[in-house]
Amino acid sequence: MMGSFLYITTLLLGIISAVQCCPPSDRAALLAFRAALNESSLGIFNTWQGYDCCHGWYGVSCDQLTHRVADINLRGESEDPVFQKAHKTGYMTGTISPAICKLERLSSLTIADWKGITGPIPSCVTSLPFLRIIDLIGNKLTGPIPSEIGRLSRLTVLNVADNSLSGRIPRSLTNLSSLMHLDLRNNRIFGTLPTNFGKLRMLSRALLSGNRLIGKIPYSISYIYRLSDLDLSLNKLSGTIPPSLGKMHVLATLNLDGNNISGTIPPTLINSRINILNLSKNSIEGYIPDSFDERSYFMVMDLSYNKLRGKIPKSISSATFVGHFDVSHNHLCGQIPAGSPFDHLEASSFTYNDCLCGKPLKPCQM
Ligand SMILES: *[C@@H]1O[C@H](CO)[C@@H](O)[C@H](O)[C@H]1NC(C)=O
Ligand SMILES: *[C@@H]1O[C@H](CO)[C@@H](O)[C@H](O)[C@H]1NC(C)=O
Ligand SMILES: *[C@@H]1O[C@H](CO)[C@@H](O)[C@H](O)[C@H]1NC(C)=O
Ligand SMILES: *[C@@H]1O[C@H](CO)[C@@H](O)[C@H](O)[C@H]1NC(C)=O
Repeated sequence: MMGSFLYITTLLLGIISAVQCCPPSDRAALLAFRAALNESSLGIFNTWQGYDCCHGWYGVSCDQLTHRVADINLRGESEDPVFQKAHKTGYMTGTISPAICKLERLSSLTIADWKGITGPIPSCVTSLPFLRIIDLIGNKLTGPIPSEIGRLSRLTVLNVADNSLSGRIPRSLTNLSSLMHLDLRNNRIFGTLPTNFGKLRMLSRALLSGNRLIGKIPYSISYIYRLSDLDLSLNKLSGTIPPSLGKMHVLATLNLDGNNISGTIPPTLINSRINILNLSKNSIEGYIPDSFDERSYFMVMDLSYNKLRGKIPKSISSATFVGHFDVSHNHLCGQIPAGSPFDHLEASSFTYNDCLCGKPLKPCQM
C-alpha cells in the first residue's frame, strides 16, 4: 500500500518536473539541431537522451524560472573533463539548423571551435529577442552576417571570428546598443565600415582584423567612450588616421597594421593612453611626432614598413616606457637618441632606413 503510494507520488513528481522542465517544443528543436550535426569523436550528443533536456544534456541549460532552454554552450576546445579524458579537441561537421530559432528563450548560443561546421548562420536567430551571446568562433561558416542582426537589442557578444563569412557589415549592426564585444576577425567580410560605427556606445572591443574592408576609418569610432581595443589590421583600409583616436579615454590597443593607410601619425597618438600601437605595413609618411612625454607608455610601438622620414624625435627619452619598438624599413635619418627607453633595443629595430646611426647601429660619422 505504502509502496504503491510512494510509487504514484514519484510518478506524479516525475510528470510535474517533466512538464516544468524542457517543454516538448524545446526538446524537439534541440533534437532537430542535433540531427544536422555530426560529432562522433567525443560523443557529447550521446547525453541528449530522455525527455528532460534541462538535466544532463551536455551543453544545454535552462532558465530556472521559465524552465525553457536558455543556453547552448558547446565548445570544441575546453577544460571540460570530457575533453581531458579523451585527450583531444573536438571536431564536428554539419550545419547549424534553423531549428534553434524555435528556442524562443535562448539567451546564449555558443558553438565554438569545432573546426568543421559549415553553412550559414541561420538568419532567423535575429528573431530571438533574449539572445545576449552569439559565439560561433572557429568553424567554417559561410554566407553573411544576418542583415537584421541589429534587432537583437540585448546582444552583448557577437563573436564569429575564424570562419569564412562574407558579405558586408550589415547596416543594422550599429543598432546593437548593448554590444560590448565584437569579433569578426579572419573572415572575408568586405565593403566599408559603417560611418555611424560610433553608435555602438557600449563597445569595449572591436576586432575586425583579417578581412577585406576598404575605405576610411570612421571618425565616429572615437566617440565610443569604453572602447579599449581596436583591431582593424590586415584589411585594405585607406585614408588617414583620425587624430581623435589619440584622445580616447580608455583606448589601449590600436592595431592598424597591414592596410593602405596614408597621411601622417597624429601627435595625439604618442601621448595617449595607447600602449600597444601597431601601424606597420601602411603608407604613412612624414615625421614621427615629437610629442612623447611621461604619459607615453608603449609595450609595443611598431611603425615599421612605412614611409617615415626625418629623425627619431629627442622627446622619446621622456617616455615612461618603450618596450618593443620597431621603425625598420622607413626613410629615417640621423642619430638614434640615447637613454633609457632605447638601451635594450637591438639593431633590427632600426635597420633598413636611409641614414640612421648610433647605438645599436654603427656610430655616426662626425
Ligand atoms: C554524418 O556522418 C555520416 C558518416 O560520415 C554521414 O553518413 C551523415 O550523412 C552525416 N550526417 C550529417 C547530418 O552531416
Ligand atoms: C535601427 O533602429 C531604428 C530604431 O529602432 C530603426 O528605425 C532603423 O530602421 C534601424 N536601422 C536598421 C538599418 O535596421
Ligand atoms: C605589427 O604588425 C605587423 C604586420 O601585420 C606584424 O608582422 C608584426 O608582428 C606586428 N608587431 C607586433 C609587435 O606585434
Ligand atoms: C592605396 O591608397 C592609395 C591612395 O591613398 C591608392 O592610390 C592606392 O591604389 C592604394 N593601394 C592599394 C594597394 O589599394
